[in-house]
Amino acid sequence: MAIVMVNSPGFSYGINIRGGLVPIAGATIRSLSSAGRAAVVTDSSVASHYLTPLTASLEASGFEVIPVLIPGGEAGKSLDTVSLIYDRLLSRRVDRNTPLIALGGGIVGDVAGFAAATLLRGVPFIQMPTTLLAMVDASVGGKTGVNHAVGKNMIGAFYQPTVVLADVATLTTLPDRELRAGLAECIKHDIIRDAEGFNRLEQSIERALNRDADYLTQLVAHNVNIKVRVVEADPYEHGERAHLNFGHTFGHAFEKVTDFRLLHGECVSLGMMAASNLARDLGMLSGAAVARIKAVLQRAGLPVSGLDVSTDEVVAAMRSDKKVANDRIRLIVPDRIGHVVTRQDIPDAAIRTAIESLR
Ligand SMILES: NC(=O)c1ccc[n+]([C@@H]2O[C@H](COP(=O)([O-])OP(=O)(O)OC[C@H]3O[C@@H](n4cnc5c(N)ncnc54)[C@H](O)[C@@H]3O)[C@@H](O)[C@H]2O)c1
Ligand SMILES: [Zn+2]
Repeated sequence: MAIVMVNSPGFSYGINIRGGLVPIAGATIRSLSSAGRAAVVTDSSVASHYLTPLTASLEASGFEVIPVLIPGGEAGKSLDTVSLIYDRLLSRRVDRNTPLIALGGGIVGDVAGFAAATLLRGVPFIQMPTTLLAMVDASVGGKTGVNHAVGKNMIGAFYQPTVVLADVATLTTLPDRELRAGLAECIKHDIIRDAEGFNRLEQSIERALNRDADYLTQLVAHNVNIKVRVVEADPYEHGERAHLNFGHTFGHAFEKVTDFRLLHGECVSLGMMAASNLARDLGMLSGAAVARIKAVLQRAGLPVSGLDVSTDEVVAAMRSDKKVANDRIRLIVPDRIGHVVTRQDIPDAAIRTAIESLR
């Protein structure tokens, strides 16, 4: 079992990481809450595996459970779904002490977190991430929110959970493609912060694909540690938290121009490749480092090329990203494995070449 503590001015909570947390979640949550009821927000795929054991555990600890099933997929990450959660919980007359538990991937966590932040001006929020991406990324850092027709994550709030329970045993039922997409964020964390961690990925990333429970526990704990350190240093993204966007300015644009046919992690993989090729072209990163990055992404089963998209459309999408300031595209670029810099002065021609390098 690993416990990572998050300590920021104004809040502090633990992220518990191990296999087998779902069946004992009731007791853990009871130690933090005297409420009579608990709401569980989840989607139907996750519910089919884990809603019954979680409900049993909560009931054994004296909670009456209010399950709220929401639609899965990005389309369900909407204000309509938030409204559905409000309707269901307000009709049951929940009060400010009723914990709202998000059981699922990043979509469930983001929507449920935003509902928790706003319902009755805030109810206790508990994250139970069930995808690798949600464990190492979405459930850490307090960002919650939903999409708008204009773009992803356009509406939201910073809202911290009371506790995070990351049961790595739930990863055994996660589809392979989703697991690989989560590995993209793990690879990202090591490229931006931890050369040693990157070496370990090179030694044994296959253990993640084989769902080795010990390896997954260590991997999640290592990645949560990196994200927590970055977020603690800059909780509201005024500076270095932007390093977490490595691969994402390209990646978000790839998601958009491919009409979201590729998963977020797959687009981040392509985005990290584009940013690494760009760094090499600018003479900032060695060809050997780029080859190592490419090899690890490939071993994780992530795409590194074969992207046939219009360069003009990608550049236009990059410009519409909400992180663009003064019309200058801001990019996070590695100058060695384990370290990145923020650049806002990269010529369009170099950005275009980097996009075309993925063909
Ligand atoms: N808040 C943040 O800081 C933050 C950070 C990164 C990503 N995100 C958001 O996270 C979302 C993506 O999250 P995701 O990749 O977890 O996708 P997701 O929530 O859609 O989950 C992926 C799929 O796997 C299924 N699933 C989840 N857990 C399962 C399990 N254990 N067994 C079987 N099936 C399971 C889900 O039903 C879904 O179909 C995006 O909307 C993204 O914007 C948020
Ligand atoms: Zn991401």
